[in-house]
Amino acid sequence: MTNKPTKATLTFDNGAAPIELPMLSGSLGNDVIDIRNLGKHGIFTYDPGFMSTAACNSNITFIDGERGLLYYRGYPIEQLAEHCNFMEVSYLLLHGELPNAVEKQQFTDTINGSTMLHDQLNNIFRGFRRDAHPMAVMVGVVGSLSAFYFDSMDIRDAKHREVSAHRLLAKVPTIAAWSYKYNLGQPFMYPQNHLNYAENFMHMMFATPCEKYEPNPILAKAFERILILHADHEQNASTSTVRLVGSSGANPFACISAGIASLWGPAHGGANEATLKMLEEIGDISRIGEFIKRAKDKTDNFRLMGFGHRVYRNMDPRAAIMRNTCHEVLDELGLHDDPMFKLAMELEKIALEDEYFVSRKLYPNVDFYSGIVMRAMGIPNSMFTAIFALARTAGWIAQWSEMISDAEHKIGRPRQLYTGSERRDLRPISER
Ligand code: SDX
Repeated sequence: MTNKPTKATLTFDNGAAPIELPMLSGSLGNDVIDIRNLGKHGIFTYDPGFMSTAACNSNITFIDGERGLLYYRGYPIEQLAEHCNFMEVSYLLLHGELPNAVEKQQFTDTINGSTMLHDQLNNIFRGFRRDAHPMAVMVGVVGSLSAFYFDSMDIRDAKHREVSAHRLLAKVPTIAAWSYKYNLGQPFMYPQNHLNYAENFMHMMFATPCEKYEPNPILAKAFERILILHADHEQNASTSTVRLVGSSGANPFACISAGIASLWGPAHGGANEATLKMLEEIGDISRIGEFIKRAKDKTDNFRLMGFGHRVYRNMDPRAAIMRNTCHEVLDELGLHDDPMFKLAMELEKIALEDEYFVSRKLYPNVDFYSGIVMRAMGIPNSMFTAIFALARTAGWIAQWSEMISDAEHKIGRPRQLYTGSERRDLRPISER
């Protein structure tokens, strides 16, 4: 029997009447104070960056930042990364249970049946400069899906929601790979549906019409694991973006396009690309001290990319799995002496012994090693966040579906602490 609080009381030092607020408990994690009726008392809470705010309830992903735990629908990420493929994990996020063999095959076949893009979409790619960042192309092309697949955009219809979810899971890899091919000036490679999800993406990325391409099974398995690790992560910035955009009733393609835009930021999903750029800038183990010093210098806006996390105050469990995946991929490719990996491990070691990082509980996050793995696989820096977006589409769609299916959901409309001018009258321009 736990002694969970059921009520909180706000008292005021100006003698105003106390306010009683209910408290709610979930199945795991922090209890919450239910402030939905606080506004009626003429008071708001103030929490820029949502450091202590639960914006929704969800059954999908649980994170324990203190203990470094991550569960998708209750399953520890370590078990999913080791024993499942991305289709099983996507099914789990969407439906709440792992599929049996028949359900897994049906789901995989459904996704495979939708991997091609409407042929007119080819023209949209051609509207971009060849040197456009793949994320800029993805934001545009994913958003434009609502101009092609409007037969599945009635979000009140569960079947429409399911069809859109499947279309996004199936088409975002094709869009991501074609964004890369367009950047290279190479012809688009069409999906090969006999391949699994990871192999199909690698084929679209690296194959050309001129020669046979066989995905390396070790690298494909490692890539599948990268997708699983990035599939969902509770109410992070891009998922919260998808929820807020979706709360207005916007179509799922527009919501995912907004999520991609948010993920692009270097403080969020763009950190994997920024981490590799930082490692390339550090260049040599002898220069690590210089960059650690900069990261601690408050007059320098440099931050150690791939370190720190809003929720994890322990090692990001995904970073540990990603470090092991690094070893596997580099060994498979005969790159175990990869200087970048050695530099990253030395940087991790030094940072984790430095009081500044230890006292602030700044540990490596998922982005610290993912760039090294993808670079070793021949994926260019500019595609790292695009691949993060590809993986996170599964989580975004699951979170969006959960919100839209909740009869209680409302349009998201935060309030503010106003600090601007009080009422004043306009003076004619001649008097200004
Ligand atoms: C992802 O939310 C998610 O779940 C995201 C994600 C997901 O799967 O969706 O996990 C993916 O985005 C991982 C995070 C990737 N970003 C980076 O690696 C960029 C570098 N990290 C930082 O920008 C930062 O750590 C954040 C943005 C990740 C977290 O920022 P917070 O929670 O707002 O932390 P903060 O700015 O309040 O920092 C607390 C202190 C500050 O110092 P003091 O004011 O106490 O002196 O720690 C310092 C910060 O200056 N600090 C860092 C640092 N991160 C925090 N100092 C140097 N280097 C860093 N990386």
